[in-house]
Amino acid sequence: MRVHVADHPLITHKLTVLRDVDTPSPVFRALVEELMTLLAYEGTRGVRVEPIDIVTPVSPTTGVRIADPKPLIVPILRAGLGMLEGMVKLLPSAEVGFLGMARNEETLEPTTYAERLPDDLSDRQCFVLDPMLATGGSLAAAIEFLLKRGATDVTAICILAAPEGLAFVEEQLHGQDVTIVLGALDERLNEQGYIVPGLGDAGDRLYGTV
Ligand code: URA
Repeated sequence: MRVHVADHPLITHKLTVLRDVDTPSPVFRALVEELMTLLAYEGTRGVRVEPIDIVTPVSPTTGVRIADPKPLIVPILRAGLGMLEGMVKLLPSAEVGFLGMARNEETLEPTTYAERLPDDLSDRQCFVLDPMLATGGSLAAAIEFLLKRGATDVTAICILAAPEGLAFVEEQLHGQDVTIVLGALDERLNEQGYIVPGLGDAGDRLYGTV
């Protein structure tokens, strides 16, 4: 597993405003989108491209275009939805699938409660969006789900992570080749499973406490 923490003053600046308890929902939503565009730039360094011949007003030349099959963006419901617009802005030709993960209150295992994805993900490059990598349970389950469907290349993009969650995902993936791009790696998880210092409940701050 490769972990890349995006290190850029603009990201840290926007993250600071995002973390602030006094930042209202509309500003929070706009900042998540902006941060996501910056993280998408980092996260798509390995996006597959193919050569294409074009003619400029001056001469013929060869450039690149996004290769087929198109990349698949998979926001994890609900908070991952807040990251989607920022990602498609940078990768408009990508397709979008959805995955809803929740914890089964009896077994405490993450389960899939909603899924809209192609059956066969062979050879697809997948970009999973989940803002908070806390315990790592739902992210690990989501990545495993995609790998079982045949995805060969998975990048998860998270705004914040706790070291405990990263370690859990690594352990669950048993050496599978996955990349995780983070806006910041925070200190720890608290007893309630919140990232510290974190930003609170990302879903609630994006969409309210419904
Ligand atoms: N999910 C969140 O939204 N925030 C946390 O701090 C942990 C999990």
